[in-house]
Order: sequence, then C-alpha cells, then structure tokens
Amino acid sequence: MKAIVAVDRNWGIGRDNQLLVRLKKDMAHFRKQTLGQVVVMGRKTLESLPGGQPLDQRTNIVMTRDPAYRAVCSVCHSIAELESCIASYTPDSVYVIGGEAIYRQLLPFCDTVYVTKIDAEFPADSFFPNLDADPDWVAAQETEIQQEADLRFRFVTYKRNR
Ligand SMILES: NC(=O)c1ccc[n+]([C@@H]2O[C@H](COP(=O)([O-])OP(=O)(O)OC[C@H]3O[C@@H](n4cnc5c(N)ncnc54)[C@H](OP(=O)(O)O)[C@@H]3O)[C@@H](O)[C@H]2O)c1
Repeated sequence: MKAIVAVDRNWGIGRDNQLLVRLKKDMAHFRKQTLGQVVVMGRKTLESLPGGQPLDQRTNIVMTRDPAYRAVCSVCHSIAELESCIASYTPDSVYVIGGEAIYRQLLPFCDTVYVTKIDAEFPADSFFPNLDADPDWVAAQETEIQQEADLRFRFVTYKRNR
C-alpha cells in the first residue's frame, strides 16, 4: 500500500476540510500517479472533492463508521473490512489519499509515501505524520524544485526502511 499527500513545511495538509492550496502541477502529479489505481479515502475527504463525487478513472473506496452511509463507490466501515476489500488488488495499486485520520491509521500498512513538500507555511488543522522525524522512513528520491505562482515545492518519495 502507498500513500500520496501534499504537505507544507509543518506537515500541514488541510484546513476546514479543504486543501491548504491548489497547485496545478501537484494536481496533475496526483492524477498521473493514481489513474487506474485504487484510492482509499475518509468520508470527509470524499465530501471535500468537487461535488462530493469519487475520482474518475480510479476505483474509489470511502471509509466511514456510519452503517447507513451511501456513496456511489465502495464503502468500508473498518480497517478489517478494508483489508478484505483490497485483498484482490496488488498492494502497489492501492493508494491512501487522505485525510489525516485515514493517513494515520493506514501509514503502518504503507511502504511508500509520495509527498509533495511545499516550501511555505499555512494555517492548518490537519496534519500528516512528520516522516523526516521518523527513523522508519527515508527520503529515497526527490525532484528538482518546482515553482507555481510564488510557491516552491518538490516531489519527494519516502520509503520505509524497516
Ligand atoms: N494535502 C493532502 O494531500 C490532503 C489529502 C486528503 C485530504 N486532505 C485534507 O485532510 C482533511 C480531512 O482529514 P480528516 O482527518 O478530517 O478526515 P478524513 O480522514 O478524510 O475522514 C475522516 C472520516 O473517516 C472515517 N473513518 C476514520 N477512521 C475510520 C475507520 N477506522 N473505519 C471506518 N471509517 C473511518 C470517519 O467517517 P464517519 O465520520 O462518517 O464515520 C471519519 O470521520 C481535509 O482538510 C482535507 O482537505 C489533504
């Protein structure tokens, strides 16, 4: 299983159930990475997407504890249920796409995290665990610095090293 996330300097990922910033290059990177794959997200993240709709050309799985929740995609009510739901997919095709609650619970199952590191600080109320402070993770690859408007960022691939 893999995760993909955009963070600011403080590993902030969102505020008021929205992203901190929208970067076209990052959206394109996210789309390219996840197209044709399985994406797993929390109910709040699904509802933050345009029109509250699942992502196109991907197998969407939404996590909620509400047994009555209805969505136009697969719904899982626990981590155990998710595990059986994704059992038929190759682990590398499953991407955890947020938000904070889902990243924190599924990070132990991930071996790779694609992090867009934005060189700025935003007020945030949702965070990703700081992988730079976690000896289990190493930044294995990183791109040149990208620029969009006045923001600088780069794509960093973290790998679990134990
Ligand atoms: N920067 C990024 O890359 C990125 C990516 C995605 C999201 N985000 C941001 O992250 C923020 C949202 O994060 P969040 O933590 O508030 O919400 P979230 O993780 O998207 O969704 C949380 C919901 O998931 C369900 N859930 C959690 N654990 C579960 C479990 N073990 N079994 C079944 N369902 C479970 C619950 O739904 P119910 O309440 O229905 O039971 C819970 O309220 C937003 O600001 C969003 O924009 C950022």
